[in-house]
Amino acid sequence: MAVAAGVLASVVFAAQANAFGWNFDVPNTYPNISACVSQPLTYSCENTTAIADTCCSPTPGGLVLQAQYWDTYTGLESEGQLLPKDSWTIHGLWPDNCDGSYTQYCDFSRQYDPDPSPSVLPDGTTVPPYHGTSVENFIRDFARFDLLDYMNKYWINQGAPNRDFWAHEFSKHATCTSTFDVACYGPDYQEHQDVVDFYLAVVRAFQKFPTYQMLAGAGIVPSNTTTYSLDQLQDALQAQTGAVPYLGCGGVNGTILEEVWYFNHVLGVEQFGQFKSIDSTTTSTCNTTLGIWYYARTPTSEHEVRTIPGGFF
Ligand SMILES: *[C@@H]1O[C@H](CO)[C@@H](O)[C@H](O)[C@H]1NC(C)=O
Ligand SMILES: *[C@@H]1O[C@H](CO)[C@@H](O)[C@H](O)[C@H]1NC(C)=O
Ligand SMILES: *[C@@H]1O[C@H](CO)[C@@H](O)[C@H](O)[C@H]1NC(C)=O
Ligand SMILES: *[C@@H]1O[C@H](CO)[C@@H](O)[C@H](O)[C@H]1NC(C)=O
Ligand SMILES: *[C@@H]1O[C@H](CO)[C@@H](O)[C@H](O)[C@H]1NC(C)=O
Repeated sequence: MAVAAGVLASVVFAAQANAFGWNFDVPNTYPNISACVSQPLTYSCENTTAIADTCCSPTPGGLVLQAQYWDTYTGLESEGQLLPKDSWTIHGLWPDNCDGSYTQYCDFSRQYDPDPSPSVLPDGTTVPPYHGTSVENFIRDFARFDLLDYMNKYWINQGAPNRDFWAHEFSKHATCTSTFDVACYGPDYQEHQDVVDFYLAVVRAFQKFPTYQMLAGAGIVPSNTTTYSLDQLQDALQAQTGAVPYLGCGGVNGTILEEVWYFNHVLGVEQFGQFKSIDSTTTSTCNTTLGIWYYARTPTSEHEVRTIPGGFF
């Protein structure tokens, strides 16, 4: 605790005690939305001429995608990097333009990705790899151990540590999302509060789309003996969200379910805004005629995350 408090000596604190009774100070992480009060309120991508202040609505990236993975292994099981039982995992929160095109790595002063992908942008610019302290430490600096704990349960990388994936998602996508611009935080901006804020927004968005539960509610559960049709999968998710998400499949004939992207328009800032589900603008890569495999995970690749061992709740 002493280390975190020292790092944060210059930050404005709200005193708080954690579950263990330790007193420490948690700095604020929110954008300054005072100026948004006088702005017309409109869903992103629905009346772009109304959006004069890009701190108040994601612009131009107003088609907001909440992307999730269904992985069956992490490759780092031996290090304890496991998948959450009965849950899909977080991929990210992406700012597509209203027409479905997108930009990436928009601010190299906030480039924290150790392994940029792509490493060269379409215009030929090389994205410089990052060698500094991990984004994981940014979260610790803001004493958001609760957030870090959640991310380590639900935001899981494959073949590399989780923190590398988190850094990638922030630098590739959040730097192109206008409501996370440093300028939107006003003169009291504390370095990296936009990073912590983005991760909080991603978690909130992810929680709006409990894919595992929505599919299971329609009788669609992981299985190594039964396949499902693309229609069955899409219908189950549309029945709960009101829109058809993008489903991504791998395998030679596109028969292995791997990804879902929920498309949205957002009312207000992405940090706090209401999401409205929109049909996918991208055609599914899953096979429309063959059965789709929603594979059961290897039992040793997943663990229970919904209860605390010893049981507080
Ligand atoms: C927030 O922005 C408003 C102007 O929109 C400004 O008057 C106010 O001082 C800012 N507050 C902080 C804490 O920066
Ligand atoms: C779009 O916003 C502008 C500016 O606020 C407003 O004048 C116009 O009526 C809006 N258009 C629609 C279709 O809502
Ligand atoms: C792909 O589909 C074709 C035609 O149904 C089939 O012959 C082939 O075995 C399939 N490949 C895989 C890897 O499932
Ligand atoms: C679906 O499977 C058929 C073989 O049955 C194959 O010809 C077709 O290319 C596959 N479609 C996709 C999207 O992979
Ligand atoms: C199900 O199949 C997948 C893909 O082949 C495999 O990785 C996994 O271990 C299998 N799970 C079970 C429970 O058999």
